[in-house]
Amino acid sequence: MKLANGYDLMDYAKRNGYILPAFNTINMEMTYAIAKGLNDAQLPGYIQISTNNLRLSNPKIIAQVAQDAADRYDIPIGLHLDHGKTFESVKDCCDAGFTSIMIDNSALPFEENIKETRRAAEYCHFYGVPVEAELGAISGKEDDIVSEADAHTNPDQVVDFVERTGCDLLAVAVGNVHGLDVEPKVDLDLLKKIADISPVPIVLHGGSGIPFETIQKARQCGLLKINYGSDLRKEFIATFGRAYEQNHNLFNVIELSLQSVENVAAVAKNLVTIINS
Ligand code: G3H
Ligand code: ZN
Repeated sequence: MKLANGYDLMDYAKRNGYILPAFNTINMEMTYAIAKGLNDAQLPGYIQISTNNLRLSNPKIIAQVAQDAADRYDIPIGLHLDHGKTFESVKDCCDAGFTSIMIDNSALPFEENIKETRRAAEYCHFYGVPVEAELGAISGKEDDIVSEADAHTNPDQVVDFVERTGCDLLAVAVGNVHGLDVEPKVDLDLLKKIADISPVPIVLHGGSGIPFETIQKARQCGLLKINYGSDLRKEFIATFGRAYEQNHNLFNVIELSLQSVENVAAVAKNLVTIINS
């Protein structure tokens, strides 16, 4: 199936009170696994890749692999750039066929964040691609990128930010964290306050480790998209680690790679099903 456009996925989620999962990939196996997990659950969602992982490949190859993964199934799957840090990375991914984009200028001062986000949104909107932006700063660890910043989203800035940037989705910092090292403490009151005034739907990053009851409550506040990275990466690594522990002479990489697809797909299926149950 053709990669699903981000606006169509958002419409589906709004119509159905559905939380779109966005699963981070870092390689071909994880990309196939995410598509399989979504298909096994028969629920739509995104394959997403963070700017950090663009160091390993380039957007055109990623788009081709994602398209190949989506072609295998008939469930709608979008391809999203996660934490795009520069206009160039946004442009490259949009040009390569990504169907949804995040520009993350949350580390910049407020006015600079608005200016750079607006620039990315204008570019993407011309090609019919929605844009997620971040206001506030999410702390924690994404692969080797560690962010000490931890600034909760200021509700007083939300309407101004959304209106002036033209963003379509707003990623918030409400106690959610990246990675598995720190326990997330999601402030649902703050989330609700923001969701009630935000002109666009809310995105929660750092899905790994957030209790499912919290996500169910966030769903009632209007949560539209949630990102999962570490849970899938951990399962991918564990597949190889467990096998190596059992046999230090292992060399059958193809079997293990196929097994990693099955194992990561099972994690993705479980997550998308539980958060939407
Ligand atoms: O942008 C990616 C996500 O926010 C992943 O967070 O690794 O804590 O699930 P996580
Ligand atoms: Zn994130």
